[in-house]
Amino acid sequence: MRISIIGCGYLGAVHAACMAKLGHDVVGIDADTWKIGELQAGRVPFFEPGLPELLNDVLASGRLKFSPDIADAKGAQVHFLCVGTPQRKGEYAADLRHVDTAFASLLDSLEPGNVVVGKSTVPVGTAARLAENLAERHPDAVLAWNPEFLREGFAVKDTLSPDRFVYGIPDGEPGVRATAALDEVYSTSLSLGTQRLVADYATAELVKSAANSFLATKISFINAMAEVCEVTGADVTVLADAIGMDERIGRKFLNAGIGFGGGCLPKDIRAFMARAGELGADQALTFLREVDDINVRRRMRAVELTRGLLGGSLLGKHITVLGAAFKPNSDDVRDSPALNIAAQLQLQGAEVTVTDPQAIDGARRRFPELTYEHDLDCAIYDADAVLLLTEWDQYRSLAPQHAAQLVRAKNVLDGRNTLDSLKWRAAGWNYKGIGRP
Ligand code: UGA
Repeated sequence: MRISIIGCGYLGAVHAACMAKLGHDVVGIDADTWKIGELQAGRVPFFEPGLPELLNDVLASGRLKFSPDIADAKGAQVHFLCVGTPQRKGEYAADLRHVDTAFASLLDSLEPGNVVVGKSTVPVGTAARLAENLAERHPDAVLAWNPEFLREGFAVKDTLSPDRFVYGIPDGEPGVRATAALDEVYSTSLSLGTQRLVADYATAELVKSAANSFLATKISFINAMAEVCEVTGADVTVLADAIGMDERIGRKFLNAGIGFGGGCLPKDIRAFMARAGELGADQALTFLREVDDINVRRRMRAVELTRGLLGGSLLGKHITVLGAAFKPNSDDVRDSPALNIAAQLQLQGAEVTVTDPQAIDGARRRFPELTYEHDLDCAIYDADAVLLLTEWDQYRSLAPQHAAQLVRAKNVLDGRNTLDSLKWRAAGWNYKGIGRP
């Protein structure tokens, strides 16, 4: 099929490359000419394992092109909207400016029978509103809402072989047409047995908000248990293993630590609360406020645990933070718990050095006042405390004996509960985990 992708950020760039990989002719469009230049030259402007190889592969096939000009969307049968919906400044609600602008500019390039597919995470009700606009200008075009569930770090795999497709479609013949178009786009995955659920717009939009809210709740639940473990001497990692063995609960997303961050979960639960408030259903989601509070509290707790490790004062202490990205295998530092903790420690008088295999440039732009060091050994040299805050493999496998020779004092905070506490203690370290004795 001929496909256009409007918005070539994280979601759009991955989607464009993957759709070309599936055999479609794809044009990726973005107003940012620098980004378009990079992508067209085969350079991915962010870190995502496997994407550079895939991008170069499909560029060479001639099935993928990039353009800064929305007029180049003309000729495509299916147009995917993949722009960002960040949190509005000073508010909980989502900022839909990019969705509205992209949609309005796309209207000039549509042709009879085209299918517009929203993938951005939007407040419930957005698709119905856009569908009305579409009907006024192009009565024979149709809008579908097809939320995206990819995870950063696994984006290529999640897009090429997702665990499900959700189509939000209108009633009647237009809905049938939208479903048929999406089935053709995703025919490879569907033929391999990927489930697809067809629903109305509101349900499809809510599926995405509900999924991210559930994941956030799971993480905050285990972090709340970590708080209780901390006052009782219990071990939250054993607790998570034990409750996770119940199939109804499951072990995934029950890793206690410094909490969730990134460009999705924090802003999505807030946007969901804001939208529920507008709809008069705010009571239904007040628990998400608690989910958010528990999450933010973990960051303060990490600062206090560090202070405790350092004998009660942070003043003048050298602290090394391992990891700046919001999670491993990503260079994304949006709302990163690790960086937030690093900045708080620095504010409270410590001298903080941050290291990360991929995220230093982005972190430096956000927090220029912190010190950054690419080399792991140099970063931990002379530290009074080492904090593992993003569980990259190279930090998980750090040898405690080796690290012990570099630091000034053997204090370690395992902010993701991924180190072997017995090994670290055996090497003479004062080890502190989260929610563990
Ligand atoms: C999340 C969802 O997992 C995706 O399904 C969704 O498509 C995406 O948001 C989105 O809305 O676009 P992502 O933000 O890439 O994906 O990251 P996650 O893997 O969900 O991790 C989020 C945060 O939770 C990270 O900071 C991670 O360190 C933290 N986390 C995760 C925990 O603290 N504990 C856990 O057990 C799991």
